[in-house]
Amino acid sequence: MKYNSLISFGAALLLGVACVPKTTQPVYLDRSQPLEARIQDALDRMTLEEKVAMTHAQSKFSSAGVPRLGIPELWHTDGPHGIRPEVLWDEWDQAGWTNDSCTAFPALVNLAATWDRNLARLYGDCIGAEARYREKDILLGPGINMGRTPLNGRTFEYMGEDPYLAGQLVVPYVQGVQSNGVAACVKHFAMNNQEIRRTATNSIVDDRTLYEIYLPAFKAAVTEGGAWAVMGSYNLYNGQFNCHNKRLLCDILKGEWGFDGVVISDWGGCRDDDQAVTNGLDIEMGTWTNGLRGAASDSYSHYHLARPYLERLRDGRATEEGLNDKVSRILRTVFRTSMAPEPHDGSFTSPEHFAAARRIAAEGVVLLKNDGILPLQVPQGGKLLVVGENAYKMMVVGGGSSNLKTKYEVIPLEALHEAFDGKAAVVWERGYVGDTTTVYNKVVTGQNLRDSRSAEQLLSDAVAAAADASCILFIGGLNKSAGQDNEGTDRADIVLPYGQDALVEALAATGKPLVVVNISGSPVAMPWASRVNAIVQGWYGGSESGHALVDVLTGKVNPSGKLPFTMPLALSDGPIKTERQYPGIQEEGKKWWQEYYDEGVFIGYRWYDTNGIAVQYPFGHGLSYTTFELSDARVKRSGDGWKVSARIKNTGEVAGAEVVQLYIRDTEASVARPSKELKGFEKVYLHPGESRSLQFTLTRDDLSFFDAASHAWVAEPGEFHVLLGCSSADIRADVPFTL
Ligand code: GLC
Repeated sequence: MKYNSLISFGAALLLGVACVPKTTQPVYLDRSQPLEARIQDALDRMTLEEKVAMTHAQSKFSSAGVPRLGIPELWHTDGPHGIRPEVLWDEWDQAGWTNDSCTAFPALVNLAATWDRNLARLYGDCIGAEARYREKDILLGPGINMGRTPLNGRTFEYMGEDPYLAGQLVVPYVQGVQSNGVAACVKHFAMNNQEIRRTATNSIVDDRTLYEIYLPAFKAAVTEGGAWAVMGSYNLYNGQFNCHNKRLLCDILKGEWGFDGVVISDWGGCRDDDQAVTNGLDIEMGTWTNGLRGAASDSYSHYHLARPYLERLRDGRATEEGLNDKVSRILRTVFRTSMAPEPHDGSFTSPEHFAAARRIAAEGVVLLKNDGILPLQVPQGGKLLVVGENAYKMMVVGGGSSNLKTKYEVIPLEALHEAFDGKAAVVWERGYVGDTTTVYNKVVTGQNLRDSRSAEQLLSDAVAAAADASCILFIGGLNKSAGQDNEGTDRADIVLPYGQDALVEALAATGKPLVVVNISGSPVAMPWASRVNAIVQGWYGGSESGHALVDVLTGKVNPSGKLPFTMPLALSDGPIKTERQYPGIQEEGKKWWQEYYDEGVFIGYRWYDTNGIAVQYPFGHGLSYTTFELSDARVKRSGDGWKVSARIKNTGEVAGAEVVQLYIRDTEASVARPSKELKGFEKVYLHPGESRSLQFTLTRDDLSFFDAASHAWVAEPGEFHVLLGCSSADIRADVPFTL
């Protein structure tokens, strides 16, 4: 009996289940559904007003979702080096939360100096996890504008002067960020190569220069990295503002490159009702601010893509098809991030993130000169004299929109005390007073940088303290204050500020062993280079900056960084010779400043090397505590490309890493081509005596220049050279071959 009733109960249950209708949730909410199906379903359910609302900001850092459908708003956050502190609804100042102090990662120029694709991925993984944890959907970074002039105030936020290097590193960074369900928003597209009059200057660039220098890193980010977002830049190109620039956004980005993500304006970069509708902009952010000044008290319904857009849709001046394209891209971003198929939790200020920050910072430190004084040895009981404001000044706060509130920042002086504790006295002399600012957007460092002594007194105190020192370590440079590596201002020259040159000369004149550490995000002149024992290029290394620098100075980490830009002897040696080149000129009948990129493709080493101009330290330069030998370089045909092989050996006493760089030279071209162009690099870690074979692949595209007339890449027959080296000037093998 019991058994039968059991069967009948089971049958009833099955029948019952079969009859009750499955709760069919809408396709757009079903994370297992294909992305495009979810987008179309949501689009079909939205009203015109809901669609328009999504295309512009609703607060300082958010753009609208669709509350009625349960589609969340998109939260945007700076920046490329860490997750900006929370702000109030429509403020720039931080909101004063107590749980949003982030991990401050190294500045992107520091990442570029590692020349390490794996570290770029690690960086993206970590910063993406922090954005996700803070429930941010779009990370406003990385910045990848080319280093056209060393004066650019935001050089520290970018990845140097070579499009191949920047392109190779931005791809893994983007992939790392997006593996957390956070959109990377590569910026600032494009030719945003200065801060002077950045919202009023029209960049005039020929097509060959555009395609060979200013587009490649963005193209790599989009077509290889799969970037989900791109930020238009403040400046104009071809007379149109880049946040709604038809050629850049419609023809190139969405047309030639097939970009399926979302284009966001820079904050205040949208300037025109009609162009905002038709020229490729998808989300208007920050209007009436230039990203730095306070916003007008206007409501968001006045935005170009708000009420004016609705009016145009209703009176037929704008099409719903165009609106649907914008909204589809926005929905695609939502379904890739906050409503992604696999939800992500992220993580924040974990030990792993600080360890990653320390490793990346250290791997990017560049040893420029060393007569053997490094790694630093101070006799037991001796005195290490540390001179310079940058040994003490915290650098994570400030610099503009990349400003961060971090959980902690290790300054060099603290790390030095730790490293020499019980071994030698570490004594600090200020040496000079640079910038005493200790707050930005209400984020405070807590330091007191004031000093009542005169410049003369500060210098003489430092020199006096050298008398009984075993060794002097000068730590100076720039500091992200106005005009010294700072958004919104450019530098006036590459000469070190605050009388540092005279101070270094005075310290050198004491005859004591002297190590100079320059902490900056951009090139500086070093007229004293021949009079000091060692020179180290440090960067804004983030939370673990001090530890990273001292790890290298003490030999705990063998330096392997390489310069991502040229260190010129003087600004006047560079390719920029006229006002019309930089910072631009006014012309009769033209409203905006006009800036002519007359130097063409010849920026950075492409200029100095081709013209045989001596530099302080070349692009790609960086020494090690060991030595390396390159041998057996060969080039052989392989399919319709070439295989390049070589061997690298560690011929020194300690383990270390070398970056083998591959340049090509076209010796007989119908156009003027640079004497060399970077087309490959590999970073190799080797133990003493260990050697490794290297393989590179070259394609016809790698040998090509961009021909504007045919709008195509052209590799002309004739002799080419493969140049393999450990910097752009340290070429160890030159192998000719014929195309
Ligand atoms: C700024 C910057 C941009 C930043 C944005 C939001 O003006 O140009 O890089 O992401 O505004 O702060």
